[in-house]
Amino acid sequence: MDFDKLILQRESVRKYTDKDISRDSIIKCVEAARLTPSAHNSQPWTFVIVDDKQLVSQVAACTVNKIVKFNKFVKDAKAIAAIVMEKTHFAMIGSNKTDENYNFIDMGAAAEHFCLQAADLGIGTCILGYYDEKKVKSLLNVPGNKRVGLLISMGYSPFESVREKKRKPLNEMCTFNSYMQVKNEEK
Ligand SMILES: Cc1cc2nc3c(=O)[nH]c(=O)nc-3n(C[C@H](O)[C@H](O)[C@H](O)COP(=O)(O)O)c2cc1C
Repeated sequence: MDFDKLILQRESVRKYTDKDISRDSIIKCVEAARLTPSAHNSQPWTFVIVDDKQLVSQVAACTVNKIVKFNKFVKDAKAIAAIVMEKTHFAMIGSNKTDENYNFIDMGAAAEHFCLQAADLGIGTCILGYYDEKKVKSLLNVPGNKRVGLLISMGYSPFESVREKKRKPLNEMCTFNSYMQVKNEEK
């Protein structure tokens, strides 16, 4: 798919059909994530793919609670990718930034590579930032000292068209050569 079309096609899909996703397709998404750039090429991630039905239900249950219900749709996902943060060991010489600052950024970039490849294959995804991390770690045997930085739910969308993107207009999120206060910034 043309890149212009692909970035419009990728959206958070929160309803899934019954169609299963092949492991070959999931591996293609992981391969796209594998090629993501990262600080010092540190690749601070391990992807745990959950495609066992019972485990998908158990992980999905970690994304909701009595108060937070917006992730209810995850129970119908056909697979869930958990991105585990791996420790990196480089020093940012001459910088006050530590490698820790970049790990979450790198994982976010990897998640987007993963989702764009999925969209190109016709697979819907939703990046999930809300979940009980402790419970997810326990279900997936992730050691206590590691973080699960993001989950990505996966499934085929029942909808033929995509939603219109709701985004800030370009002139409110980009300037050339000098920062300018954006119009609608809250005081
Ligand atoms: C880091 C991150 C965390 C997110 N967490 C959730 C989540 O827990 N539940 C959810 O339904 N959507 C979640 N989203 C999806 C965003 O709501 C969505 O990307 C945004 O509204 C833009 O819509 P679009 O993805 O359809 O273009 C998350 C997205 C990101 C990047």
